[in-house]
Amino acid sequence: MSLQEELQGPPPAKLIVDHVSKWFRQKRQTVHALDDVSLEVEEGEFIVIVGPSGCGKSTLLDIIAGLERPDKGRVLADNQPVIGPGRHRLVMFQESALFPWLNAFGNVMFGLKLKPGLRNRERREVAKFFLHLVGLEKFMEANVHELSGGMKQRVALARALAPNPRVLLMDEPFAALDAMTREQLYGDIQQIWQKRRKTIIFVTHNVREAACLADRVVIMTPTPGRIREIFEVNLPRPRDFNSIEIARHASKLTAALKGYLAPEAVVSVE
Ligand SMILES: Nc1ncnc2c1ncn2[C@@H]1O[C@H](COP(=O)(O)OP(=O)(O)O)[C@@H](O)[C@H]1O
Ligand SMILES: [Mg+2]
Repeated sequence: MSLQEELQGPPPAKLIVDHVSKWFRQKRQTVHALDDVSLEVEEGEFIVIVGPSGCGKSTLLDIIAGLERPDKGRVLADNQPVIGPGRHRLVMFQESALFPWLNAFGNVMFGLKLKPGLRNRERREVAKFFLHLVGLEKFMEANVHELSGGMKQRVALARALAPNPRVLLMDEPFAALDAMTREQLYGDIQQIWQKRRKTIIFVTHNVREAACLADRVVIMTPTPGRIREIFEVNLPRPRDFNSIEIARHASKLTAALKGYLAPEAVVSVE
């Protein structure tokens, strides 16, 4: 594969979550984390999963990633059953999980170890390309401890994008950041998604974030974790996090969640 093709990337994948259930068995109790969850995600679609803490969002994402196995049901990626982690489905977590002994460039290069068939010179080109894409071309040599929280998440994003996965799974990736940094990243992630056309599944407990980013918002509720409703967000992009339309969609999502949850649980999703 040429460097140019490598930078272009493969087409995004279609995902099918097919009647997935999951229990966590512990000594004293068993948690029913997911109950008969089914979802079809189109190639290149941006799905946001929203719901209060404990509703199984991370468990679902981990099962799609192949990091956890379902007790019932299965996940298909491009019609192939997911039986373990793979380089076409990469996860980005809330904590950037960067290696502190490597600089920004080194961290992205590390992600490229997942990518066979690239020469070292090509790896370096690819790493530079993705650091550029996330706006960090001036910070390639910076050490992890010199980077702000937002910059660390940008490096983590570049590291996840660089091996060209067909699916990007994001578990509350911006939750630990301050509001200003987050809003910048909403703009950036929309731009990057439009340029790279990945299938993205993004988990959050923030309804406004969901409305700002999603093609479709999947609403989940806990005990047991279930999909309750799916909303389409038919707004043009790029979307402004602070616009009236986003606020309107967010309040619809909140109202739906309120309909499913006890009042005290709703506070945590607003
Ligand atoms: N490894 C685990 N062992 C036991 N229980 C777990 C484990 N992972 C998740 N759970 C439980 O499963 C439920 C769903 O968790 P999780 O998927 O992390 O929810 P969310 O990401 O929506 O907050 C919770 O009740 C949680 O305590
Ligand atoms: Mg979680």
